[in-house]
Amino acid sequence: MSEIIFIENLSYTYPDGTEALREVSLAVAEGERIGLVGPNGAGKSTLLLHLNGLLQGEGRIEVCGISVTDGRLDEVRLKVGLVFQDPDDQLFMPTVFDDVAFGPLNMDLARPEVERRVEQALSEVDMLYAVERCSHHLSFGERKRVCVATVLSMSPQVLALDEPTTNLDPRHRRQIIELLRQFELTTLVASHDLDAVLDLCDRVVLLDAGEVVADGPADGILTDRALLEAHSLELPLSRQS
Ligand SMILES: Nc1ncnc2c1ncn2[C@@H]1O[C@H](COP(=O)(O)OP(=O)(O)O)[C@@H](O)[C@H]1O
Ligand SMILES: [Mg+2]
Repeated sequence: MSEIIFIENLSYTYPDGTEALREVSLAVAEGERIGLVGPNGAGKSTLLLHLNGLLQGEGRIEVCGISVTDGRLDEVRLKVGLVFQDPDDQLFMPTVFDDVAFGPLNMDLARPEVERRVEQALSEVDMLYAVERCSHHLSFGERKRVCVATVLSMSPQVLALDEPTTNLDPRHRRQIIELLRQFELTTLVASHDLDAVLDLCDRVVLLDAGEVVADGPADGILTDRALLEAHSLELPLSRQS
């Protein structure tokens, strides 16, 4: 099996002393779509922030065979496209074009190639119509899709999304789920929207208090009422009768 992400005994404590991850180990095969679930404060966001070295804990992480450590972070960040929960953390340029072009321009690509990538990435998320608009004038759902485009324009190997469906109305929620289903990239989705995870993911990793408490097929873990309830979660709506 070719592992695209390899995490071994990862622990992380925030500077204020909060232990957010404890001895987390996880191997992800190329093309897998994994749902990271768990109650608030379980460590889902903290784990995603380690994938491209925004946080660095103790233990070992490799992405595409590259160790996520100082000195290799530029390489790693070309491989992992991280979509933050809050679009305002991702979009900071005057126009949608500038935000989506930011990564490719930093890769020193020629202008025509940058434009090609921006056009393709925005088309993939159905946002090309807004290329010249200001991100701040778009709806929340539109900004979420532009955020996905800002990472697609870098041609990542891994897509990591933090709560991609949060705060979306049903139509935009459905739209982003359908979009993510189309990609063939290795994907990690941190979410408390267990219905979305069930729709999107083959495999689920359940975290609680910074530890992996279950790891297996989505339709096993997300239908196990006792397990979910033991970790302050509920069955997905589609599985409640
Ligand atoms: N910047 C921070 N400083 C201190 N503690 C933090 C910070 N961010 C998160 N935490 C704590 O780390 C733990 C894991 O948080 P987080 O990764 O955000 O969980 P989740 O995404 O699963 O809700 C929680 O106890 C949370 O309060
Ligand atoms: Mg979170």
